[in-house]
Amino acid sequence: MLSVIVDGIWREGDKSLAVRLIAENGEALPAWQPGAHIDVHLPCGVVRQYSLTGSCQDESYLICVGRETASRGGSRYVHDTLRPGQKLLVSAPRNLFPLLPAERVLLLAAGIGITPLYAMALQLKAAGTPFTLHYYVRNRESAAFARELSPFAECIIHTASPRTALAEHLPAAEAGLHAWICGPAGFMEKVREVATAKGWEDAQLHSEAFQPVAPLSCGETGEIFTVKLASTGERWPVPADKTIAQVLQANGVDVPLSCEMGICGACLTPVIDGVVDHRDSVQSEAEKSAVNQHVALCCSRSHSGELVIGL
Ligand code: FES
Repeated sequence: MLSVIVDGIWREGDKSLAVRLIAENGEALPAWQPGAHIDVHLPCGVVRQYSLTGSCQDESYLICVGRETASRGGSRYVHDTLRPGQKLLVSAPRNLFPLLPAERVLLLAAGIGITPLYAMALQLKAAGTPFTLHYYVRNRESAAFARELSPFAECIIHTASPRTALAEHLPAAEAGLHAWICGPAGFMEKVREVATAKGWEDAQLHSEAFQPVAPLSCGETGEIFTVKLASTGERWPVPADKTIAQVLQANGVDVPLSCEMGICGACLTPVIDGVVDHRDSVQSEAEKSAVNQHVALCCSRSHSGELVIGL
């Protein structure tokens, strides 16, 4: 366990905070390589894993915390309470997502999934390894590290939905070309689907989910629930392997969809009654806990037995 001090906190895009940590004893913190993460023990009693980002040559650690995961407690604390000068305990870095030797590299990031890939981009640039970084965000204002990435011709920020854009951005498989992928589970599933269709082998695809919740699983609740339309009173069960959007479409209800990964907001629909199990990365914590809420039909589920929506 390492004792560190919060040396600085600043905005990265309009949804994330970067946090620089230095050793309390003034020495250099243990070395790390891109893809590594640390466990951060927050005074609110939770332990959260955050990817290290920025240059791995620095003697300090840099993490970036998105507000979209605030409902799990850790990022709410970071965004609302953590202050420069505060002491924290963190683990030594562990790397389950290492950047392996490759002739050419494709980096694919969505949302806060940029954090390990930004570190990889810096390392690849320094090593002279050819690479391209495609970074998918809802809008440019939400992009973290946009200023740092902008001088690099290899780094491209996209506001188009990765669901449609990936087919263009992901080239056919080539010997020596490897991809590192980080983002919501739905994003990585889509990348794998497109890559497989283009002949990529599993061994060429390296991925890490920044949030453990699988949009199509029942996750923590494991319950089937009913979705009800406020306009007509029609109700249908939502099984564990289907999204609300899929159930509605199967019953002839028009649902506006774009990313289908909880990152664009196209499917947000007013909630009339029920308790939403929010699984999207679009809404802030305040929006997810407001009196008048919206549900992302493409990925969110319900804690209550019935969810009445404004359709
Ligand atoms: S379709 Fe993008 S958040 Fe649901």
